[in-house]
Amino acid sequence: MLKDIVKNLKPSSTLKINEISQQLEKKGKKIFKFGFGQSPFQVPTDIVNELKNNAYQNKYLPMQGLLELRKSIANYTSNKKNYIYSFDNVIIGPGSKELMFLLHVIFDGNIILPVPSWVSYMPQAIIGRNKILTLQTKRENNWFPTASEIEEVIKKDKKKNYLLFINSPNNPSGQVCENLEEISEVTKKYNLIILSDEIYSELNFNNDYKSISNFCPEKTIISTGLSKWCGAGGWRLGYFIIPETLKIIKETLNVLASETFSAVSAPIQYAAIQAYEGDHRSYIQSSKNILSAVGKYVYENLSSNKVLINKPQGGFYLMPEFITNKFNSSSEMCSSILEETGVVLLPGTDFGFDKKKMFVRLSFTDFNGKNFMKEYEEKNEIDNELISKCAPMVVEGIDRLKKWSETI
Ligand SMILES: Cc1ncc(COP(=O)(O)O)c(C=O)c1O
Repeated sequence: MLKDIVKNLKPSSTLKINEISQQLEKKGKKIFKFGFGQSPFQVPTDIVNELKNNAYQNKYLPMQGLLELRKSIANYTSNKKNYIYSFDNVIIGPGSKELMFLLHVIFDGNIILPVPSWVSYMPQAIIGRNKILTLQTKRENNWFPTASEIEEVIKKDKKKNYLLFINSPNNPSGQVCENLEEISEVTKKYNLIILSDEIYSELNFNNDYKSISNFCPEKTIISTGLSKWCGAGGWRLGYFIIPETLKIIKETLNVLASETFSAVSAPIQYAAIQAYEGDHRSYIQSSKNILSAVGKYVYENLSSNKVLINKPQGGFYLMPEFITNKFNSSSEMCSSILEETGVVLLPGTDFGFDKKKMFVRLSFTDFNGKNFMKEYEEKNEIDNELISKCAPMVVEGIDRLKKWSETI
């Protein structure tokens, strides 16, 4: 009774790994949760208070989203970028993931997915029934495609429409795209538009974040939301900013929104106004400093000639490659690591790598962000002593993983 297209799809592996680690933990095994990537920090208090104040909001909101919220987001984004966005460019969804899904449903053309990329792009593209073209990226290019690699696939059929996904800072690699300008040159030349997944952009460790939208705003859909920087993944509020030139996409997404989720929960939308109007610079800076220090700790204490890693540049992740011939697949290796050390990791296959490539994604957020932030505010610096005190699971898990890597 099922359509062929969905028969081979499995539940999102990140959510599944979370369940497996919870089950093992219930059985008494000490588990290091480096599989699931979710903000360790609490939602800022002023935003939580706004949610409380607006619990009574019970009316359906406009399908494109609450006007005041769209205005705040347009202002916030225009101030950050060298481009003026209006409230009419913003569409609010129940997480950016849902909006991406609807984009796949409406888009007619080829989808270009870099490898590695986020677990959900591929299944969503499959459901969207477009042709999917994958681009293998290289460590030397920070795990992003080069302009010529993109151009090569487009040149095979210049008449087609193309949609390329760029996610910087990246999940799973933790890297930032540094060749945005050359990618924008290719974008301008062809029927190519970009979905710029900027969900980790506020958590860029270097303070001068640039996105592809800085170079070709007319051909870029910005996708982001509250989930990562604001510690509010469970609130389910994301949005697209779609330039005037791609208005038809926004209008069609609106139609699909109205026929599916109708509108995002009203209290959440009212609370989100505070997220974009309040001053959260110090919360974001502390989050970034902590994540950057913990990421650096993992990088420095795990890297070796058996474990190759690029130093994390933003977000929650790094992507170690284990140099070993012992396993038939990266998922077999992850099962062995889980059994022997209790460390949960996601295999590279989930991000599009060949199963023989021994990549994993390691999320370094297994710590209590509220405590860490409090201690950091008191101490004002982050050294190994503070990391051991506030992120003991990260420290012990990395130690176990390092010892395991010496046996391969
Ligand atoms: C790269 C990437 N894009 C998008 C999302 C989805 O975010 P949202 O909570 O807005 O649906 C995630 C969340 O895991 C992510 O890692």
